[in-house]
Amino acid sequence: MEEKILKYLKQNMHNFVSGQELSERLNVSRTAIWKHIKNLKNLDYQIIAQPHSGYQLLKIPDKMLPEEISDNLKTKKIAKKIIAYKSTDSTNNIAYRLAEDGALHGTIVVSEAQSKGKGRLGRSWVSPAGVGIYLSIILRPNISPLEAGKLTLMSSVSLVRALKQVLDINAQIKWPNDIYVDNEKVCGILTEMSAEVDQVNFIILGIGLNVNTKASDLPKGGTSLQLKLKDKKHIDRVSLLKSILEAIEADYLKVLKYGFNFVVEQWKKSSRTLGHDVKIKTGKKVIYGKALDLDNNGALVICDDTGSLQHILSGDVTPMDSR
Ligand code: BTN
Repeated sequence: MEEKILKYLKQNMHNFVSGQELSERLNVSRTAIWKHIKNLKNLDYQIIAQPHSGYQLLKIPDKMLPEEISDNLKTKKIAKKIIAYKSTDSTNNIAYRLAEDGALHGTIVVSEAQSKGKGRLGRSWVSPAGVGIYLSIILRPNISPLEAGKLTLMSSVSLVRALKQVLDINAQIKWPNDIYVDNEKVCGILTEMSAEVDQVNFIILGIGLNVNTKASDLPKGGTSLQLKLKDKKHIDRVSLLKSILEAIEADYLKVLKYGFNFVVEQWKKSSRTLGHDVKIKTGKKVIYGKALDLDNNGALVICDDTGSLQHILSGDVTPMDSR
């Protein structure tokens, strides 16, 4: 019912709607309307109530509320179920447990803050409250575990497209899937998985994006999208999140239908790794060489310092040139 009231108030944003009108349209008592409005106010919707005029919606809260995320979201499966926290340790941890308990493909977990945000390779992800997107998506693709990395690369491509579409920001991808703007990291992706030898049970796609984060709250080498905008304007996290979810679903369906090659093409166009001298840590090995290409499995092709070609599926890359 709250969603219906909200929809009506939004259609009449900054105008009064009488309690009578709402109760007739939605077929509930005026007391029930009043109770729902109270609940909405508790969620920080700014609604004024005036005795002879009714209710007026003044401001939608700057929060990742499920009501707002699902409003006019154009996806089929992703985010049909939304679990939202004010704060949690890690959305990936929550999503993992939910997936183990059978949560549906497409379920998402978001949080305003994380106390133990996890990064790749045991690092942490700084997750201050109310300024970032901390998102985990449960996916249940019918693929082998060897192919899981492809979906991570895919999501980096989807993110770059969404950033261009919504904010006109040109982002680049550092292999495998860190997103950079002007040489500073703005987004990281941590994929976790549960699998049998030849079949994935589920994948947790964890995305951390610094959106309105202030410079003083960012780790060294990090930036936020707001800081990269010419006018430094505040960014609506919910609309950005919706575009990201739509981009990810569109690419996910495309990968399932047509295969992974288009991701490789798009990834190469946005890469900030190809063509550069790099140092790559992969397991216990360290490889020095030049990053030449991304192969059709999503592996980075390196010409190492002995002159041989190596295809590397996972690791951590440090550029050796000036960047
Ligand atoms: C990295 O760059 O090392 C990956 C960072 C991934 C951070 C996100 S935030 C949402 C999700 N929950 C986590 O604990 N981590 C991921």
